[in-house]
Amino acid sequence: MIKSTRPSPSTPSFRLLSLLFLFYFKTDAFNYSQNSICNSNDLKALYDFSQSLDTKIYVWPLPKENSSRCCSWPGVHCALLQTPFSPNSGKVRVVGLDLSGKGLQGVLSSSISGLENLSFLNLSHNSFRGSIPPELFHLKLLQTLDLSSNQFSGELSPGIGNLSSLHHLDIDNNNFTGIIPDAFYDMQNLQVFSAESNRFVGGLPASLSSCSMLTLLSLSNNSLDGIIDLNFTQLPRLTKLDLERNRFHGLIPEALSSCKALEIISFARNNLSGRIPKKLSELQSLNFLNVGVNRLSNISEAFEVLQECHNLTVLILSWNFQGETISVKEIRGFRNIRVLGVGNCALTGSIPTWFRNLKELRALDLHLNQLNGGIPSWIGEFVHLSSLELSSNLLSGIIPVSLTQVKSLTSGVTQKDEVSSFDPPFFKWDRDNFIYDDIKYKHYTDFPPLLDLSHNKLNGPIPKEFGNFKYLHVLDLSWNKLSGSIPEELSGMVNLEKLDLSFNNLSGSIPSSLTRLTFLSSFSVAYNHLQGLIPSAAQFFSFPCSSFEGNPGLYSNSPHFCNSNLNTTDQKEGDKEEENFIVFGLPFAIGFVVSFLATVYLSMCCYDPNYHYE
Ligand SMILES: *[C@@H]1O[C@H](CO)[C@@H](O)[C@H](O)[C@H]1NC(C)=O
Ligand SMILES: *[C@@H]1O[C@H](CO)[C@@H](O)[C@H](O)[C@H]1NC(C)=O
Ligand SMILES: *[C@@H]1O[C@H](CO)[C@@H](O)[C@H](O)[C@H]1NC(C)=O
Ligand SMILES: *[C@@H]1O[C@H](CO)[C@@H](O)[C@H](O)[C@H]1NC(C)=O
Ligand SMILES: *[C@@H]1O[C@H](CO)[C@@H](O)[C@H](O)[C@H]1NC(C)=O
Ligand SMILES: *[C@@H]1O[C@H](CO)[C@@H](O)[C@H](O)[C@H]1NC(C)=O
Ligand SMILES: *[C@@H]1O[C@H](CO)[C@@H](O)[C@H](O)[C@H]1NC(C)=O
Ligand SMILES: *[C@@H]1O[C@H](CO)[C@@H](O)[C@H](O)[C@H]1NC(C)=O
Ligand SMILES: *[C@@H]1O[C@H](CO)[C@@H](O)[C@H](O)[C@H]1NC(C)=O
Ligand SMILES: *[C@@H]1O[C@H](CO)[C@@H](O)[C@H](O)[C@H]1NC(C)=O
Ligand SMILES: *[C@@H]1O[C@H](CO)[C@@H](O)[C@H](O)[C@H]1NC(C)=O
Ligand SMILES: *[C@@H]1O[C@H](CO)[C@@H](O)[C@H](O)[C@H]1NC(C)=O
Repeated sequence: MIKSTRPSPSTPSFRLLSLLFLFYFKTDAFNYSQNSICNSNDLKALYDFSQSLDTKIYVWPLPKENSSRCCSWPGVHCALLQTPFSPNSGKVRVVGLDLSGKGLQGVLSSSISGLENLSFLNLSHNSFRGSIPPELFHLKLLQTLDLSSNQFSGELSPGIGNLSSLHHLDIDNNNFTGIIPDAFYDMQNLQVFSAESNRFVGGLPASLSSCSMLTLLSLSNNSLDGIIDLNFTQLPRLTKLDLERNRFHGLIPEALSSCKALEIISFARNNLSGRIPKKLSELQSLNFLNVGVNRLSNISEAFEVLQECHNLTVLILSWNFQGETISVKEIRGFRNIRVLGVGNCALTGSIPTWFRNLKELRALDLHLNQLNGGIPSWIGEFVHLSSLELSSNLLSGIIPVSLTQVKSLTSGVTQKDEVSSFDPPFFKWDRDNFIYDDIKYKHYTDFPPLLDLSHNKLNGPIPKEFGNFKYLHVLDLSWNKLSGSIPEELSGMVNLEKLDLSFNNLSGSIPSSLTRLTFLSSFSVAYNHLQGLIPSAAQFFSFPCSSFEGNPGLYSNSPHFCNSNLNTTDQKEGDKEEENFIVFGLPFAIGFVVSFLATVYLSMCCYDPNYHYE
């Protein structure tokens, strides 16, 4: 899911204040109302609302206490309602109710409609169940309705269309079913409509096109289908369009190009086909585009079109373009691109030279293609690169020493680095269920720095200069044809958590210097031609025997450690564990390291969730 900053300030107090200004002209309205006796309709509505819950709202007084100063109850906001026509008489009424995250459980009582002047209702992050009472749709002044993260169910009534004042409608993370009613014709004020993670089916309601103020539309993680056919020319303010994880098919609509304000588009995990429309190059504000896991074609054209979107920083094209040849044609754009995902496309050809221009790259994912040729030496020029995923290709030749000059891995990331205000998606390939699963990481920089060159045809030695990668957390060189010995300098990778050198032709012994890699939690040198004593450090004995097997010459001086296994010479069929954790979208083979990392980070006092190095 993409989380984005909302287009308008969204703190409840801000919203409340702004709406208060719509109604009231006396500056002390708020003070006055704090101490006021409640309107009796409001009081009754609040009590009945509270009574219908499984548990009472403990911070509210009980009815028998005859407390009528409801404006001072937690979560209740009142205002002195005046009109310019009767400036000297006003009524104090409840206009806002914010009970988000109060652990409330039960059904939503129809008595809520007694709060006739309610314009703000936030019941998010509770355990409301059942359907929305139809009476709620009588609250014509409602501007904000946030029912997200509850267990509301049933169909969304077309009555929602009666809430013509609504600016902000959020019903994310509920259990709504059926279609999204085509009832948006009169919702001229709607700016935000978010209905992520429900069980909606059917198509996009055409009437959404009437919401000309719409800035954010997020319907991800439902079962919506049909084609994406809103009249985008009527939605000039749209900044975020998130339709990922649905069943949309057909083409990416060309008319999207008329939404000039678009910054975020995700169509990931649908069944879209055809090409990236040429006109998308007009989206000059576009910052994030994820079309991964669809059936798009013509990657050359995709690059040609999207290079014109100069503000693009995150581009995920993975799992499309099956079997095409990666474009060698010179591309000059993408100067701001930070995250580029083109994994799992079975692309042929070699790594294009124009990638050299992508100076801002932080993460590059090309895994699971059929790219041949060598690893270009200019990859070492990427100053900010912290995640390079080239596994499962046909790359050959030696590992260029220049690769070990990537500055962010040798000297750390220098400046604090915001990719954008939203999270690129991470997917984990679940081979058993044949699906991609999301990994719950907030930000790509939350991922440990990674270099994965596994499952290629690389030969020659492991450059000893890898030891300069002080900031690398994962190094996977397994399943290649690397030869020579394991450089003792690798001990310089002091932050390394995973080191996999298995299934190569390495010889010599395991350098005892490696025992200095104190963060190492996953290690394998299996199936090489290593010899000699396994360094005797407690940490090495904590790795499973399978980390060392297939090296007949290896032995340990600990009588209980694995000696009986080390003589095995049969090569295993595959590296199942590895494959289960191939990650897509943004690279990641960290799977089994993840829980370890969590532990390590939690136990280090100063872990910075923004993950940057000074
Ligand atoms: C509702 O409350 C939650 C939790 O306080 C908050 O995150 C959310 O932004 C609020 N919704 C609106 C529309 O203000
Ligand atoms: C409202 O109350 C605050 C303190 O609660 C006070 O500082 C402010 O002067 C009051 N405003 C008016 C207009 O009385
Ligand atoms: C509640 O208070 C009102 C006046 O403030 C009074 O007339 C009424 O009798 C009280 N009711 C109860 C049940 O105490
Ligand atoms: C408050 O609600 C009442 C009843 O619906 C309505 O007559 C009145 O106009 C509303 N007040 C304002 C300021 O909207
Ligand atoms: C919506 O408004 C129309 C006309 O005002 C009314 O007939 C209908 O009953 C309302 N529906 C709901 C669910 O409030
Ligand atoms: C959602 O609804 C289905 C039936 O429609 C029910 O089986 C399921 O338990 C509900 N899930 C939640 C989280 O309420
Ligand atoms: C998608 O929605 C389902 C419930 O419908 C929820 O269990 C799941 O966590 C959601 N997935 C994401 C990635 O939000
Ligand atoms: C989309 O809306 C525009 C402007 O309102 C209108 O001119 C055009 O005919 C509409 N297109 C379609 C396909 O409905
Ligand atoms: C995607 O579309 C193709 C052709 O339109 C169809 O054969 C296929 O079943 C669809 N896949 C899914 C998962 O809906
Ligand atoms: C591109 O991004 C920059 C920096 O975030 C921003 O200042 C600029 O307005 C954006 N350009 C467009 C056309 O949105
Ligand atoms: C891709 O699109 C270009 C036009 O941009 C076209 O020349 C080329 O033939 C297309 N390639 C394929 C494989 O369709
Ligand atoms: C392993 O093989 C070596 C020689 O190949 C042999 O001397 C040794 O006894 C074997 N160890 C075990 C435990 O089978």
